[in-house]
Amino acid sequence: MTGPNPRKLIAKRVVGRERELELALATVDSGRDLVLEGPPGTSKTTMLKAISSEWGIPLVLVEGNGDLTPSKLIGYHSPARVLSEGYTADGFVPGPLVAAMQRGGFLYIEEFNRAPEDPLNVLLTAMADREIEVPRYGRVVASATFRIIASMNPFDNVGTTRLSTSISDRLNRVVVGYQDAEAEENILRMRTGLDGPLSEAITADSVAVCRMTRDHRDVRQGSSVRGAIDLALIA
Ligand SMILES: Nc1ncnc2c1ncn2[C@@H]1O[C@H](COP(=O)(O)OP(=O)(O)OP(=O)(O)O)[C@@H](O)[C@H]1O
Ligand SMILES: [Mg+2]
Repeated sequence: MTGPNPRKLIAKRVVGRERELELALATVDSGRDLVLEGPPGTSKTTMLKAISSEWGIPLVLVEGNGDLTPSKLIGYHSPARVLSEGYTADGFVPGPLVAAMQRGGFLYIEEFNRAPEDPLNVLLTAMADREIEVPRYGRVVASATFRIIASMNPFDNVGTTRLSTSISDRLNRVVVGYQDAEAEENILRMRTGLDGPLSEAITADSVAVCRMTRDHRDVRQGSSVRGAIDLALIA
């Protein structure tokens, strides 16, 4: 999974985050699975997209909400095909887990801590054995670059289950927090494309206002750099 100086190319798409990228890259490069833990808007998806696209690895996204079921993860036999020709491999519609295993992709599960126990247990098997048995389809063996990458917000307490220790024991955790003001201003420069005489002032002010919301006593959940990007564009 190494190309021509991939670290530098990845760094070009992400402002800062040297340490987090180093840890995430070392983890996936060693064949290990990963959980990125941090509040919303702290580069989790951005880092993964940069790594997977630089390595040419498919990124398969799954939203970890309460509706996630094992069959949504694994896939299902198309009812129409089952009626006309019975259970065949061709009639199987792979879910994100099977697709990621077969294509050697990163299965990225956002809001991991919101997923119910059953689908999480399916992931345990895939993590431990690198293969799963799908009834009436057969054995699915993961390609070498298959990884499970989870993200979660540690302060999220809406509809979350406590991660079972058997799951957290199998994941390597990288904690991300907010970046400093200078990095956040650079993120705005990269993302808003603003120019003109006022752009620098708007950038600095938007970042400053958003940062103040994070420790204002009347605000429960402050804004991430997303808010600063929006504020600058609207201004
Ligand atoms: N280090 C960074 N470099 C460049 N852009 C960034 C960086 N961090 C955040 N951004 C920008 O801020 C926005 C939010 O980042 P991102 O989607 O990666 O956050 P996240 O941690 O995945 O959030 P969530 O937990 O809500 O999914 C994106 O538009 C992204 O472009
Ligand atoms: Mg995200």
